[in-house]
Amino acid sequence: EKGTYPHFMLKEIDEQPFVIRKIIQKYQDETSGLKLDDDIRRAMLEADRVYIVACGTSYHAGFVGKQLIETLAKIPVEVHVASEFSYNMPLLSEKPLFIFISQSGETADSRAVLVKVKEMGHRALTITNVPGSTLSREADYTLHLYAGPEIAVASTKAYTAQMAVLALLAFDTAKQKGIALDFDPIQELSIVANAMEVLCNQKDEMEKIAREYLAETRNCFFIGRGLDYYVSLEGALKLKEISYIQAEGFAGGELKHGTIALIEDRTPVIALATQEKVNLPIRSNVKEVDARGANSCIISMKGLDQSGDRFVIPAVHELMTPLISVIPLQLIAYYAALHRGCDVDKPRNLAKSVTVE
Ligand code: F6R
Repeated sequence: EKGTYPHFMLKEIDEQPFVIRKIIQKYQDETSGLKLDDDIRRAMLEADRVYIVACGTSYHAGFVGKQLIETLAKIPVEVHVASEFSYNMPLLSEKPLFIFISQSGETADSRAVLVKVKEMGHRALTITNVPGSTLSREADYTLHLYAGPEIAVASTKAYTAQMAVLALLAFDTAKQKGIALDFDPIQELSIVANAMEVLCNQKDEMEKIAREYLAETRNCFFIGRGLDYYVSLEGALKLKEISYIQAEGFAGGELKHGTIALIEDRTPVIALATQEKVNLPIRSNVKEVDARGANSCIISMKGLDQSGDRFVIPAVHELMTPLISVIPLQLIAYYAALHRGCDVDKPRNLAKSVTVE
């Protein structure tokens, strides 16, 4: 039930700090670090390449998963949209491991790939919020998200839960491989949960940003580099699906190769700046769009912020930034939809789980 909340989406956004703490509680083990099935550990150790397959928001979490697994566990990862994979299958490595990411565990496009790769004799792990779901039953292994039921059509808490579980999996694999890391995922996730709480208490500010930038507009661009780019894709998806504003996420450096032609006077451009190594380059991209009249809004992270940034999120480990930078974007999308009188929890033309291919 929604309780005192006007919408499930807002309730689910607010639940994110609790979901992260629940994940910590479920996966933490006092002695060896993390509680993870030995079969999953073995599958990760044996894989020469990981193929992440998913749709929509779960696909966006997959990109962050790639970064986490490659950075921490040093296994190459490819990320694929499920509906493309079956018809346009990449050349597979010798010992692939498939990871299906799916909130519902019922997405038909993802299932079609699972059936195919099982027929080919490959192993599959499903990361899902619904343990008894089809994708969970049909895969060899399951990791549970513990996010609780997600009712709003727009996925929020499942996305952050997916990235948290992927971080734990990446870290655990690194540890099993004997890779020395100065990264304690439990500690980093606790910092994330606290930062999420801070952000969830700044809703007035998000409502203001939505009003200032999105009240009248037909379109909106989200830009970022590296992990911020992946979050830009998710920010754009959230905004378009519930507010019907045409929105696109772009890699900051790619804008000038065509898309910048769309920037007009007052076009909103929301830029993320949470990664030290791309902090200056993304700011030059903002200058480029400003010079064409854009109404830019920089959301940066404490420590990398500069005067004039519209909003500053608390500092977390750089690999963890997507878990918190997405919260302002979820809230901005929510308020933009609310201001336009849209049905936030049940946007037109969409269903919570997509069970047709
Ligand atoms: C976006 C959204 C969809 C789902 C996609 C995959 O807010 O909810 O893009 O993420 O349909 O669904 P699952 O994760 O259930 O496989």
